[in-house]
Amino acid sequence: MDRTAAPSDKPIEERVEQEKYVRFSLSQRIEHFVLLVSFSTLGITGLAQKFSEHPLGAWTIGLFGGIEASRLIHRGAAVVLMAVSIYHIVASLYRLWVLGRPMSAMPTPTDFVHLYQDVMYYIGRRKHKAAYGRYSYAEKVEYLAVVWGTVIMAITGFMMWNPIATTRYLPGEFIPAAVAAHGGEALLAVLAIILWHFYHVHIRHFNKSMFTGTLTREEMLHEHPAELARIEAGFVEPRLPSEVVARRRRIYLPIAAVLVGIMSYGLILFVTFEETALAFVPPGDGPPVFVPFTPTPSPTPLPTSTPLPPGSVQASSWDGDIAVLMENKCGVCHVLGAQGGFSAATYDQVLEGGASGPGVVPGQPDTSQVVIVQQDGTHPGLFSVEELQRVIDWIQAGAPEE
Ligand code: HEC
Repeated sequence: MDRTAAPSDKPIEERVEQEKYVRFSLSQRIEHFVLLVSFSTLGITGLAQKFSEHPLGAWTIGLFGGIEASRLIHRGAAVVLMAVSIYHIVASLYRLWVLGRPMSAMPTPTDFVHLYQDVMYYIGRRKHKAAYGRYSYAEKVEYLAVVWGTVIMAITGFMMWNPIATTRYLPGEFIPAAVAAHGGEALLAVLAIILWHFYHVHIRHFNKSMFTGTLTREEMLHEHPAELARIEAGFVEPRLPSEVVARRRRIYLPIAAVLVGIMSYGLILFVTFEETALAFVPPGDGPPVFVPFTPTPSPTPLPTSTPLPPGSVQASSWDGDIAVLMENKCGVCHVLGAQGGFSAATYDQVLEGGASGPGVVPGQPDTSQVVIVQQDGTHPGLFSVEELQRVIDWIQAGAPEE
């Protein structure tokens, strides 16, 4: 949590003369750089897939070598981002507990005072902006947004990467919800970086401290006056006696090793749990050709059918009820995606079927894959007994389209 750089050992006067104030240690700068590269890669390859029907999206996918490559790069970057997050957790706990540093990126009541002072300044009721300490409230909010955003993206990413495991524990509706949340949070994060982060760090004044590690006295005076005053008053963070640090380190290192082990195991599971990640953009040869799908916002629950009076026959047809039934019961994997090469989006695709052969053979339920995959009861999406009977009857009746 805390990003305080180790106070330099040089005397204050010397540092003032050099007019350089250490802001970020080398390890923090490397961490930021890895975050920058993985985040940008995720944003570009992800939004290209989200907007694949737009020419710019299609062009970007082509730039990365096609849809398969874009997907692979996106997932690779996700693994890098999760790995750097694991590092961040362990390193933050180390700084917090072993070194006893404060959590200077966490909001405090002073931040609300600063916010109020800045509003007063912007409406002309105050002469000066608030005097920020090590991190301004804007920087803290941005840091927390990164933490929160990463958590959301990891959870929803897991659900899209491992839809079968997810639907084992959660209702199917969670998958399209995860897809919507993943895309929405991505857009929010990218816009926040472009509008908020770029403005504050590059446009208002080009702050290079995340790359050079230091700020000049002039910059400190403008951006972190309270922190500058504290340093110049000779106030150094109270440091723990070295034997305490040494003892705590001995305790923490094995704990950190276990933490890293558990979290890395989680990461490996994330990647290898199943081989059925949802794929929304169909592959194409050469310049990708897309068949955009219409996203289903949230599947309308199937109206629970009133039990039919015994003996009555209800004539089913694709347009009449079977299409709706398939979309509700199979849509997450076979309309949004095409698991096993089987898409249930159109009548023709259902007839055509997937890897094992025709989905529906009119008049022959026994050779129709749609029925076959349902019969041993282990398929990740199942019709109810009554629904399956309806599908069988429909096929038996020649699988009419209308
Ligand atoms: C949670 C995801 C999920 C849901 C929901 C789902 N399936 Fe599947 N389906 C899969 C996967 C994964 C495969 C490919 C592996 C396999 O064949 O088991 C597949 C494959 C298929 C195939 C093609 C088999 C082949 O090899 O040709 C058919 C047909 C099929 N499913 C029918 C259905 C029907 C009908 C429903 C709705 C009642 C349904 N599925 C719901 C995940 C799903």
